[in-house]
Amino acid sequence: MLRIDALVVATCDGSDDSPTAALDLRERASVGIEGDRIVYLGPTENAPVADEVREVGCVLPGFVDPHTHLVFGGSRVDEFRRRMGGEDYRTLAKEGGGIASTVRATRASSDDTLFELARARLSALSGFGVTAVEIKSGYGLDVETELRLLRVARRLGTLGLARVTTSFLGAHALPPGEADRGRYVREVIEAQLPRVVAEGLADTVDVYCDEGAFSLEETRAILSAAKAAGLATRAHIGQFADLGGAELLAELGARSGDHLEQVDDAGLAAMAKAGVVGVFLPGAWRTLRQTPPEADRFRGAGVAMAIGTDLNPGTSPTANLPLMAALAVRDAGFTIEEAILGITRVAAQAAGFTEKESASGRLRVGGPADLCGFEISDPAALGYAFGDLRASLAMMAGSFATVASIPRLW
Ligand code: NIG
Ligand code: FE
Repeated sequence: MLRIDALVVATCDGSDDSPTAALDLRERASVGIEGDRIVYLGPTENAPVADEVREVGCVLPGFVDPHTHLVFGGSRVDEFRRRMGGEDYRTLAKEGGGIASTVRATRASSDDTLFELARARLSALSGFGVTAVEIKSGYGLDVETELRLLRVARRLGTLGLARVTTSFLGAHALPPGEADRGRYVREVIEAQLPRVVAEGLADTVDVYCDEGAFSLEETRAILSAAKAAGLATRAHIGQFADLGGAELLAELGARSGDHLEQVDDAGLAAMAKAGVVGVFLPGAWRTLRQTPPEADRFRGAGVAMAIGTDLNPGTSPTANLPLMAALAVRDAGFTIEEAILGITRVAAQAAGFTEKESASGRLRVGGPADLCGFEISDPAALGYAFGDLRASLAMMAGSFATVASIPRLW
């Protein structure tokens, strides 16, 4: 047996009564691991003898990043420089920059290049404690490239760094040079989706539903086809305008609605009623210098709140999920406890990792040995400190993904 002794363990497996109860902090506690499972979770003083013992400040469930665009070629640093000089994201996109420029760079990259670039990004995520990640396609926008991206994403799931769930995002933008919206939406539904389904490459279908992207009716058509094909659904909604995406996601029984800067109260009520998780993306609102969504409104409406990196070259070039949690506290008004749950158990729900065979964002005896460790004496430091915290351990299915020596800062 391997034993990890901690100053504090946050199981994130407590009752739903309050975020504090849900965190379920245990001081001077140990986690015992045999194979890929947790076999002991309790006081260190009663812990069974182990072959190997590690000491860590704070142990939590391995973090779950519920929203990434991890597989892409190229960089958008020049575009970023222009945007910070005052040019507008959507105007640049209309002129062939933005997502389309990453699509060109991605199409021009080989599978091996895309895989190596994405592997480096996945290692970076692992260094921040992430052991499960949702990965979208969406920078191919033609049948062959979308399939290539999803195959790379599936391959990333075999590295032992993190569990991977994939989302097909053929409806991320109109492809460069495409003038006929109807034709492209039909291509997504009639050509791309059936191939994705036939090869079993996606667990979920996502659509970018917004002004300048896909309309509500286009989103409805694509997600209905996805549902009919047996896939889960989710969408980017309300990043710039409220098109009614929240109500549509509720109607479809979708897993999550992501971004959410512009969603009205009726939309929030619909999401809450249908159990659609709200995924907050601080990297994107920061980079676009937008007003963040208010956690208060979501909490009041009863919408479960998760947090993702949105790792992508245009609006969120970061793998630092703990930083995103700390920004959700500062910018959007999450409590620290909500932010920790937002990158563990609520994120697992948003991304569709199921407890039985995969990451749950919770620690419990009999559950998967997916956990992370940080050199802090109190998990609250995850919301308090920002930008400095790196995991001193990340373990997936009982194997160490990241081992580092980190000074205890907080
Ligand atoms: O989640 N909102 C749409 N898609 C990405 C940005 C993609 C890009 O600019 O490359 C997002 O923010
Ligand atoms: Fe995104």
